[in-house]
Amino acid sequence: MTEMKDDFALVTRAGEAARASYGMPLAVLAELTHRCPLQCPYCSNPVELETSRAELTTAEWCRVLGEMAELGVLQIHFSGGEPLVRKDLEQMVAHATEVGLYSNLITSAVMLTRERLSRLYDAGLSHVQISFQGAESMVADRVGGFAKGHAKKLEAARWTRELGLPLTVNAVMHRQNLHQLAGIIEMSVELGADRLEVANVQYYGWALKNRAALMPTRAQLEETTRIVEEAQARLQGVLAIDYVMPDYYALRPKQCMGGWGRQFFNISPSGKVLPCHAAETITGLDFASVRDHSLEWIWHNAEALNRYRGTDWMPEPCKSCDFKEVDFGGCRCQAFALTGNAANADPACVKSALHESLFQLADTEAETGSERFLYRNFSGGVPES
Ligand code: FES
Repeated sequence: MTEMKDDFALVTRAGEAARASYGMPLAVLAELTHRCPLQCPYCSNPVELETSRAELTTAEWCRVLGEMAELGVLQIHFSGGEPLVRKDLEQMVAHATEVGLYSNLITSAVMLTRERLSRLYDAGLSHVQISFQGAESMVADRVGGFAKGHAKKLEAARWTRELGLPLTVNAVMHRQNLHQLAGIIEMSVELGADRLEVANVQYYGWALKNRAALMPTRAQLEETTRIVEEAQARLQGVLAIDYVMPDYYALRPKQCMGGWGRQFFNISPSGKVLPCHAAETITGLDFASVRDHSLEWIWHNAEALNRYRGTDWMPEPCKSCDFKEVDFGGCRCQAFALTGNAANADPACVKSALHESLFQLADTEAETGSERFLYRNFSGGVPES
């Protein structure tokens, strides 16, 4: 570790002011790798993927897991890319268990075997979250760009429940699979899932390239809200369903990541600490690395975490808004993607000058956008044939 006294001199006044407005991180998303067998058109990994050569080693991850526990982190989400690509995942889960972290595996599950899941269970894995791209193979395998993937996921979900592990179904929804939402809810119940996340695509990074192919129509949204509300009432105590209105059609922005640098951070495969998984889409931010600093130093002092922490950085209309400590100005990555300045109000907010044009854009793209995806993989963009 190369912590220098001088580093402390770099703590900005903004950082000091922000310090009063955040607590300790409760959860961390560890992106073990950007490698992934799927080719989802809404992939949330950065447009510039990190190579396997740049990835943190097992020893580095284990050290960082220890630092997380010391910092007060409770939950570690092992994610990617596809975390199962890492052959040392069992070692990392075992170490997380040893230092007292609750570990969640966020996986596409297409590479999972019964034996590997048992080994992860024996290492202390506490929870499994499997992504689904639809309710049946025809749609799901096309969206993920992976043949027979849906059947593999169903199998892995059953193994998860056989082992007694809690299961969350994560379904990323968009115009081309929303018609299967009712089926996804029933599938989740049949699989014995505890929770279903109905996650709308977020349009930054790679998803921005496919926005016109993914944007839902207004009619779909109305139907989605009706289906979700009916299922939430009917399945109380059986299946918890999380759902948030998609940003482009919302009146108020969401509190993204629980507020920038307030209770969460993300670690990239090479060790960069990010306030959220998409923060690298914002140009001009400098991200500290766990290879150079302790997590404790980074949490309190890193420039990227302090830049939009709290409310002191806000310009109008956020600055004088009654909701500024409720939504913290919405999503910085979306503000940057749509306005070119991450400090601007998130256009998802009705107070943003761009709100109305955003709504119109969503409406137009949903009605006229092409259905063809631009898949993403390590060799770049692959147009759907
Ligand atoms: Fe980065 Fe919302 S995704 S702040």
